[in-house]
Amino acid sequence: PYPYYAEIRRAGEPLWLPHEQDSTSQGVWLFAHYADALAIFKNNLTISKHIRTVRPSTIQHPFDLHLLHRDGADHLRLRRMIAEFFSLKAIAQLEPIIQQQTDYLIDALIDNFADQQSFDFITEFCDPLPVFVIAHMFGVPQNDMQKVRRWSLILGDSFDSLLVKHTNLDERRTALNEFISYVQYLIQTKRDQPDDSMLSYLLEREGQQLISSEELIGMSLFILFAGHETTINLLGSGASLLLSHPEQWALLQAQPELLPSAIEEMLRFESPEQRTSFRITSEDTEISGFTIPAGQQIGVFIGSANRDPAVFERAEEFDIRRQHNPHLAFGIGIHHCLGKTLSRAEAKIAFATLLKRCPGLVLAESSFTWRKNSFLRSLEKLSVSFA
Ligand code: HEM
Repeated sequence: PYPYYAEIRRAGEPLWLPHEQDSTSQGVWLFAHYADALAIFKNNLTISKHIRTVRPSTIQHPFDLHLLHRDGADHLRLRRMIAEFFSLKAIAQLEPIIQQQTDYLIDALIDNFADQQSFDFITEFCDPLPVFVIAHMFGVPQNDMQKVRRWSLILGDSFDSLLVKHTNLDERRTALNEFISYVQYLIQTKRDQPDDSMLSYLLEREGQQLISSEELIGMSLFILFAGHETTINLLGSGASLLLSHPEQWALLQAQPELLPSAIEEMLRFESPEQRTSFRITSEDTEISGFTIPAGQQIGVFIGSANRDPAVFERAEEFDIRRQHNPHLAFGIGIHHCLGKTLSRAEAKIAFATLLKRCPGLVLAESSFTWRKNSFLRSLEKLSVSFA
């Protein structure tokens, strides 16, 4: 997508992308410069995220009600309710479990593939780690996560209006309904047998009428989805970047203290979320000299803002030593990513362990297959082998 973004930045105008089947508007204005991205992320006065204001009542569903699709007091109430699960302290307590699962997965890689020609690093490592971690936090039996992963993949593709026309509408509706039914079932099991999971905690809040039953379903769907999809992509793209830049992979082995800046560079260079989610102008809004009338949908190409040469020197170069790196991969402003400490912790543990235990990892032939999705920068397959 990167040459395409550069063209949009050069054109100096937002891109109008008509929606084929989107139910919320005729299309979306997409901005590609870093400065525009900042202006949009930080504007919660004339830009709203409340999708239900425009979604026809006939197709509303609980997924509309998660915190990223809410404004003002409701957003704050929902965000504060779960913030402590994502704090530095909470994530530090989770690290031993992330490490244990990483070791388990890497043991299996070494046992199963040490003398194989190649194997798919996405299926064997990048997928299972974040899936395990969010299931553990939220309170989902690990055996059920295959289903959650499948529904999330279909949901993730359904955000993409470019792709929507190519995917099966019935399949998407069925996946969302099955996912909702599953979450309802899970809620019932936790009502019967509460534990110390995030879901049990949310059920207590529901009992105190601090969150409605519909919001609870929306929150559960979103946490399960957001809690693994983007981190899988960070691990996959990160590994592909290191292995396709062998000199940087070698540098990181020589200087593992560069790992934090390497992870930030992965987030900048292949931002897992390439486009922001739903936003709509609630009043006429000026962005970089363009007035977007009230009631129009707008978005940001995060992947473009993060390669804007106005902000990043040698923006098209992957450099794990980069010092000045104010990337927007996690957004900014009141909706900035709540899970960023968690995904950074997963990436840190994953790559530190790979560096130690699999320094010989190399790309195999015809290694990359990118998923067709303009929202998610997502590798479907990454063939690697132990040298
Ligand atoms: C919001 C990216 C991992 C939970 C966001 C936003 C971005 C983002 C860009 C803001 C979207 C916008 O303003 O339109 C990422 C990336 C991740 C990641 C790149 C991994 C590399 C996670 C994880 C969780 C999570 C592991 C855990 C559940 C959330 C939540 C919000 C959010 C709850 C909404 C916050 C709010 O509305 O106040 N994320 N995310 N994210 N993310 Fe993440």
